[in-house]
Amino acid sequence: MSIKKSIVYFERAGAQNTEETLKLAVERAQELNIKDIVVASSYGDTAKKLLDILEERSLPLNVVVVTYHQGFHEKDVITMSKETMEELKKRGAKIFMGPHALSGVERAISNKFGGAYPVEIIAHTLRTFGHGLKVCYEITLMAADGGLIKTKNDVIAIGGRSRGADTAVVIKPANLRNFFDIELREIICMPRDKRRMDE
Ligand SMILES: Cc1cc2nc3c(=O)[nH]c(=O)nc-3n(C[C@H](O)[C@H](O)[C@H](O)COP(=O)(O)O)c2cc1C
Repeated sequence: MSIKKSIVYFERAGAQNTEETLKLAVERAQELNIKDIVVASSYGDTAKKLLDILEERSLPLNVVVVTYHQGFHEKDVITMSKETMEELKKRGAKIFMGPHALSGVERAISNKFGGAYPVEIIAHTLRTFGHGLKVCYEITLMAADGGLIKTKNDVIAIGGRSRGADTAVVIKPANLRNFFDIELREIICMPRDKRRMDE
């Protein structure tokens, strides 16, 4: 048996694709009766836009917002403001902030000693499909390890290139300790050209 499905390809990567990506992701969640959406959001903008769409359509899905760990940009600083975190939680979203699944301690090793190590090689290989797709893998692993989604249910994951969203997928989650059990089920949308408009 086989099924034919559509994939939307954006001309270039980047935040200009956010609204369309979010709408396509929500439509596919409805079509497949998927209850969990995991979204990358550094400052909260993409997460708020996703909640707007879900609220407009009265869809009570489990929204997991994965954000940068404290210290990602600057020592001891959290990228997402407290007010935004509070707003997202009030609107029913769950927030995960913790070690990044596809860099972690390896980033410290390559920064200090140079060279390339397995986890960062996996991350770079996934980025050949687009940064957003690598982010979809990473945030799904983080949300599963954080106990915010189950590995037995397919979820929708949404990522982007630096800001906003340009990639959405249907993905079977795994915990980091079983990384190779993760399965990409469907690509909903992604950029064809992996460069942003300004590159
Ligand atoms: C854990 C994590 C890892 C990310 N890794 C990358 C990356 O490797 N490349 C990239 O272009 N963006 C990366 N991002 C950015 C996201 O894909 C997304 O564009 C951004 O979080 C949206 O934030 P905003 O809602 O504040 O615009 C990452 C974000 C998170 C939370």
